[in-house]
Order: sequence, then C-alpha cells, then structure tokens
Amino acid sequence: ADLQALNTLALPGRAAFLGTITATAQLAAISAVPALQGKPRFILGGGSNLVLNGDFPGLVLRLAIPGRELAAEDDEAWYIRAGAGENWHDFVRWTLAAGYPGLENLSLIPGTVGAAPIQNIGAYGLEVAERFHHLEAVDLTTGAAVRFDRHQLRFGYRDSLFKQEGWHLDGRYAITHVTFRLEKHWQAVTRYADVAKELAAAGIAAPTALQVSDAIIAIRQRKLPDPAQVPNAGSFFHNPVVDAATAARLAAEYPTLPQYPQHDGRVKLAAGWLIEQAGWKGRNLGPAGMYEKQALVLVNRGGATGADVGAVMGAVQASVREKFGVGLTPEPIFL
Ligand code: EPU
Repeated sequence: ADLQALNTLALPGRAAFLGTITATAQLAAISAVPALQGKPRFILGGGSNLVLNGDFPGLVLRLAIPGRELAAEDDEAWYIRAGAGENWHDFVRWTLAAGYPGLENLSLIPGTVGAAPIQNIGAYGLEVAERFHHLEAVDLTTGAAVRFDRHQLRFGYRDSLFKQEGWHLDGRYAITHVTFRLEKHWQAVTRYADVAKELAAAGIAAPTALQVSDAIIAIRQRKLPDPAQVPNAGSFFHNPVVDAATAARLAAEYPTLPQYPQHDGRVKLAAGWLIEQAGWKGRNLGPAGMYEKQALVLVNRGGATGADVGAVMGAVQASVREKFGVGLTPEPIFL
C-alpha cells in the first residue's frame, strides 16, 4: 500500500500491509491474526509528524476511529471524549462551537486526536497535557483494553510515556479514544506575545475562546506552510533546552537570541532563530529545505525522499552545532 498520501511531508514509501481501523473491536481481531504476528507494526494517525524512509516491511495501522461527545460533567468541568481518528483541528473547532472552551490555543495543529498526547502537542502557551484527562487504548500484544490517566503519562515538552517507552515506534498500543477535561471557569491564555498582539490589533480586550482560536489561526497561516500546498511536518526540531551557563554564554554573544527560562533553571532557546542565523532560512539542499517564513519548518519542495530530508536535517544540525555549539533534536518520528 502506498503511504505517500498518508504523510504530510509527501515522502514516497510503501507498507507491506495497511489496515484502516474505524472501530475498537477491529484491533482485538488484528492482534489475533497469525500472519501478522511478529511483523513490525506502526500506528499511523494524520502522518503529520512522520519521516518516511522508504518501504515499511510490516503492518501500518491507520487509526481512523471517529466520534466526539460530552462524556461526563461535574460542577467544575466538562469531560469531552473523542475518537483517535478525529482530525485535531476539526475537533477543536467542534468543542468551541459546542460551547466547551479550553483547546483554542491548539487550533490548526495538523494531525489526529489520538496522536495529540503522544508528543504532547503544544502551541501559544498551552500544551495538551494541561487539558488531557485520560486515554483508552488496546494493548496489541494481548488484545486487552487499557486506560492511562494523566498522572501516568509523564508529560514533558513534546514528550510523554509513549515516547519514553518507545511505544510510538513499536506500535505496542493503539490509542482508540482520548478524553479531555475542560474547566467551566475558563480563562483565555494570551500570555504568548504573538497572541496578545494579534488580539490587540483586532481591538479585542476580553476575547472569547473562538476569538482566541481565530487569532491563532491567523498567526499560523501567516508563517506556517499548509501541508496541502507545501508538504511539511511542522516544527522539524525541538526548541533546545540548555543549561544556565550555556544560555549565559550565548546571551553574551547573541543578545537577540530568544531565551525562555524553564522551571528547573535551564533555558529553552528558539531553534528557528538559531537555524535562521546559521543561514538556513529559505535555503534548500536538493529537493528539501527550510521554509522561508519559519526556519524551523522543513519543507519538501517537490519529489524529496526520506534520504533528502535526512540530508537537510544533518546539514542544519551541523551548521547550528558549529556556529552555536547547540545540538538540535528532530521532532518527527522516523519510520
Ligand atoms: N524565529 C526566528 N526565525 C525563524 C523562526 C523563529 O528568529 O525563522 C524566532 C521568532 O522570532 C521568535 C522565536 O524564534 O522569537 C519563536 O518562534 P515562534 O513563535 O514561531 O515559535 P517556535 O518556537 O518556532 C514553537 C512550537 C510550534 C508552535 C509555536 C507557537 C516547537 C518545536 N515548536 O515554535 O509548534 O506552534 O511555538 O507556540 O516547540 C510544532 O511543534 O510542529 C509547532 C509548529
């Protein structure tokens, strides 16, 4: 089965087997098929955080379980449950239209609901961990239904238990549903400067959740390429977190380098700035390169393969390491 249309970098590659899962019960059935036992497995959502390196000799399971509902409610919060296959942005807009605010800062992030907790998607001052309540999954090694609550998932910056244990790579669990806890005492999260600026420019002092969503959509559309037009996987590297001494050394030499102090004393640096200053903004190496409006986004200019993406990645990492002494870690999964 051809995977090129199933990854937003539009990289070529085929899977030996491809299954589309639209109901939880299909997963138990799959884990019992003898021909598929022992084969490598990969769980695919929206394919928006994926670098496909040629053909995959195993089973790709495309999680397409639909559904979104108010599952429960108490005095403090609504509990919204969604199928893993729901498109993330459509789901966010649905919650807003239905009167459940809280996810608006995560508008227009590509991908699916089921993938969101795995890398703890985040943007504009909010991480999904802050709204996550629990997830339901099927352990594909046993066929058993399992549940993970928020405190079990060890969320960090673009990180969770699923990544720490490598389950996103070995396909051990298929996430089927995610439930979010959205507080009834809602407050807009507008501390991120770009968001505050966008709302101020529109003359909005006390924004609704829908207005925050609209503002974030406008910001993202200005600087991030639409994968349907320019294939990409969002930010290609993590913003690197360095120790205080490194941050101080860099601040002395590069006063305009954006630095974000963390709770643990370390400092997060803007990878996009480092990449731009290293000369890579809008620069290509063969058919792939770094986007002209946001240097942290690697784009396929047409016809790139996983190897072309790897070449750009390595060249950018080398430039940034040479100029700043800082290592960059890729954000996407390599298959
Ligand atoms: N910058 C540059 N040049 C560039 C790009 C950025 O100088 O080419 C500077 C900006 O001027 C700004 C700083 O770097 O001062 C940060 O840039 P931006 O606000 O665009 O955000 P980011 O740090 O590049 C992160 C997330 C995004 C998320 C935005 C907004 C990561 C890896 N990326 O990007 O997430 O949308 O913040 O909150 O943390 C993603 O993960 O795929 C993603 C798009």
